[in-house]
Amino acid sequence: MTQRRPLIAGNWKMNCLRADGLELVSALVAKTAEKGSLGCDVLVCPPATLLSDVVNAAQNSAVGVGGQDCHAETSGAHTGDVAAAMLADIGAGYVLVGHSERRADHDESSTVIRRKAIAAHDAGLIAVVCVGETEQERDLGATLSVVNGQVAVSVPDGATAKNTVIAYEPVWAIGTGRTASVAEVAEVHAAIRAELVERFEDGDEFRILYGGSVKPSNAAELLAVADVDGALVGGASLKVDDFWKIIETCA
Ligand code: PGA
Repeated sequence: MTQRRPLIAGNWKMNCLRADGLELVSALVAKTAEKGSLGCDVLVCPPATLLSDVVNAAQNSAVGVGGQDCHAETSGAHTGDVAAAMLADIGAGYVLVGHSERRADHDESSTVIRRKAIAAHDAGLIAVVCVGETEQERDLGATLSVVNGQVAVSVPDGATAKNTVIAYEPVWAIGTGRTASVAEVAEVHAAIRAELVERFEDGDEFRILYGGSVKPSNAAELLAVADVDGALVGGASLKVDDFWKIIETCA
């Protein structure tokens, strides 16, 4: 069986001023240093304004840093946007693309997200491609077709297990305190795995994260599900003790 090293990623979203962000990452760096060897990779994705500071604070530590979004183009007239190469240039190693909040707030289609993932790869970043169904789509019984369709279009042909991570985040579970059941998570992760295996030579090696109200009390059961190779954590990643408990689940 393929051994996939879990990834626990914190998505800070539009939270944290400079002092809060530095306190959070410094505490995390201290905990990882104290622990020594970890059972997973650890990633934080702060808002763009804090990336540089957080990269500096996490230097020479086990804490990786990623952006929350990038533009599909390499440079140019795109006011307010950040290019993947800019993220790489300041020392980020990852970038989230296609988070459901981006899909909803900024009308991002899976086609745009694929272009962003390609831009991330071209800049040498690992793209964390996010997918997930809405509550209405689940109620209609369309979960697997929606998620498989998002993966088909959002994940570029050049993806490999090394440059791409998939994050399954049911929209109705994000920030709501509601988590998908173990059976629901298992079904969707198995469907994504089957799709990756069919399409990519190393499809069995891609990490597939679960996200949506992951917290210390449910992390162990979610991370024990087959084909769940880590978590994308929003709210609980802003509290270092909670995030650390989730990381320790992988020990
Ligand atoms: P949540 O967010 O853990 O607060 O539900 C997860 C995410 O949106 O990545």
